[in-house]
Amino acid sequence: MSKTKENKGIDAPTMTREELKAEIRRLATEKNAVIMAHYYVDGEVQDIADFIGDSLALAQQAAKTDAEIIVICGVHFMGETAAILCPDKKVLVPDPEATCSLAESCPADEFRAFVEAHPGHTVVSYVNTTAATKAVTDVVVTSSNARQIVESLPADTPIIFGPDQNLGGYINAITGRQMILWNGACHVHARFSAEKILALKADHPGAKVLVHPECKGAVVKLADQVGSTAALLKFAIADEATEFIVATESGILHEMQNKAPQKTFIPAPPEDAFDESGSRTCACNECEYMKMVTLEKLYRCLRDEQPVVTVDPEIAKQAIKPIERMLEMSK
Ligand code: 13P
Ligand code: SF4
Repeated sequence: MSKTKENKGIDAPTMTREELKAEIRRLATEKNAVIMAHYYVDGEVQDIADFIGDSLALAQQAAKTDAEIIVICGVHFMGETAAILCPDKKVLVPDPEATCSLAESCPADEFRAFVEAHPGHTVVSYVNTTAATKAVTDVVVTSSNARQIVESLPADTPIIFGPDQNLGGYINAITGRQMILWNGACHVHARFSAEKILALKADHPGAKVLVHPECKGAVVKLADQVGSTAALLKFAIADEATEFIVATESGILHEMQNKAPQKTFIPAPPEDAFDESGSRTCACNECEYMKMVTLEKLYRCLRDEQPVVTVDPEIAKQAIKPIERMLEMSK
């Protein structure tokens, strides 16, 4: 069984799919819990959520919810952000092992040393970071607001940007800034192939190319629209084109297809991948961490009210400042 579909350590309830969904909704109402999902999780998890959104929208919703329990159907840093913003609420994640390769590419102690090696710099960190990395940050950004926040800093401010070198490079290119970049990347976005997208475009000449800024520069160059998941969705709904090649995690196609059922969304192909012996392996445009969130785990998490996301109080005290600064600057 593939990692993405496996229910590690969880004995699947003996309920039908429909009973499982009804139970999740019943538990959410009974416990005054709100279920928030990122666009990359499985479609059936998105469908049962009270709210779906990009990273910025999830943080904004968490900050203002009245619910007593917040269930974040996404990866761990999203749960941490909600827990930091809502210390008086119980924040649950269906699978605490659902991490993020980009957040993992920036260990807090190494990032702190990097920051200390560049005194006098304002530290801008992408939200895809651990709480400990946010604790050494001046302002957090998401792909929705990175340009706006960087542009709002005085032009002569020296900036460190971490951890995504692709997003950082893109922001440098469109703002003319020369931010110093941490060399992290997302393994899903980094593997889209510009050559394969060009070949696909030749077969679909009317298709517009939608690209998340975590992709490499060569892929971003092919874009008709670059943006966060929410921005790409908005563009796809509003634009007159009827075909789109989508260079981001394929979970977003679910909501694109829901919102624009008459249009065609084609997942952009990743580069070929090879194992150590040189054999071709399966490379796909799915984030295996996001796909660890299943209905079964969501059900158990609501029923048992665990796993609870906890953040060390000292780290949370530091990390909340750059997150709140971002929310303030994004109003
Ligand atoms: P968005 O902020 O665009 O939702 O992206 C989150 C993410 O994890 C991208 O890989
Ligand atoms: Fe992290 Fe990439 Fe998965 Fe987004 S798609 S959660 S950046 S590993």
